Amino acid sequence: MTYETLLVERRDHVAYVTLNRPAALNALSTNLRQDLKQFFTTIQAAQDVRLIVVTGAGRAFCAGADIKEWTEPASIVEDREARGRLDFREAMRRCPQPIIAAINGYALGGGCELAMGCDLRLASDRAQLGLTEVTLGIIPGGGGTQWLPRLIGRGKALELILTGRRIEAQEALRLGLVEQVVPHEHLMQAVEELAQTITSRAPLAVKYAKEAIVRGLDNTSGVALVEVFDLDP
Ligand code: CAA
Repeated sequence: MTYETLLVERRDHVAYVTLNRPAALNALSTNLRQDLKQFFTTIQAAQDVRLIVVTGAGRAFCAGADIKEWTEPASIVEDREARGRLDFREAMRRCPQPIIAAINGYALGGGCELAMGCDLRLASDRAQLGLTEVTLGIIPGGGGTQWLPRLIGRGKALELILTGRRIEAQEALRLGLVEQVVPHEHLMQAVEELAQTITSRAPLAVKYAKEAIVRGLDNTSGVALVEVFDLDP
């Protein structure tokens, strides 16, 4: 299957998916969100794929929602329903395979949420991460309010979300937001090594270990998928 905004390659039981809108720093346009939803929906049923790697083309992992697409919604309800139809994160959540984010540059707003929706995060030493939504008058409605405190604790999560501050890769490592920081030019090599180690282990043990951890820790994160507005109709 080919996608307009994604590059997909399968190698040694690993699916590599690259967000491919480098000129827009891989911002999450409608097409990209649609493609991601399709990709994660398809790949979760692929028995021969045991691990997924997500990265970005060019100098960004993902700069978040495509701000240039933003228009006044006709109504909050219509806006929310339209966003729900495009929600790739639910499809991501259903993937039995471990997902590694190879954070090659900016991971901001929805891009940081995309990284947090992955199971493991390896970052280039050039990466910058942040939930910058409040600087635009919105909240991190794509899972960030639940994932960030689970990863780095309530106080630090509140500090970062309420200020919208961007942090460098090394600070993200200290906080536990990423598992490793590697020199930029070695990022994909480090990711491939980790992917190879995991895929060399017993496939069912890997799958059920992930399931046990995710179900145990994350059984309420669905409440965070509220997108920008969460008002009753
Ligand atoms: N949406 C659309 N286009 C974007 C974009 C975005 N989020 N981020 C960057 N771009 C575009 C820029 O408009 C620019 O395009 P042109 O060359 O056509 O002008 C191109 O990508 C390069 O960007 P910059 O020139 O700004 O590059 P820079 O190196 O000077 O700055 C940056 C990089 C700090 C990431 C800056 O682009 C930036 O702050 N972007 C916005 C990041 C952001 O706040 N994201 C969160 C959005 S809210 C959200 O994500 C919530 C949600 O899911 C609903």
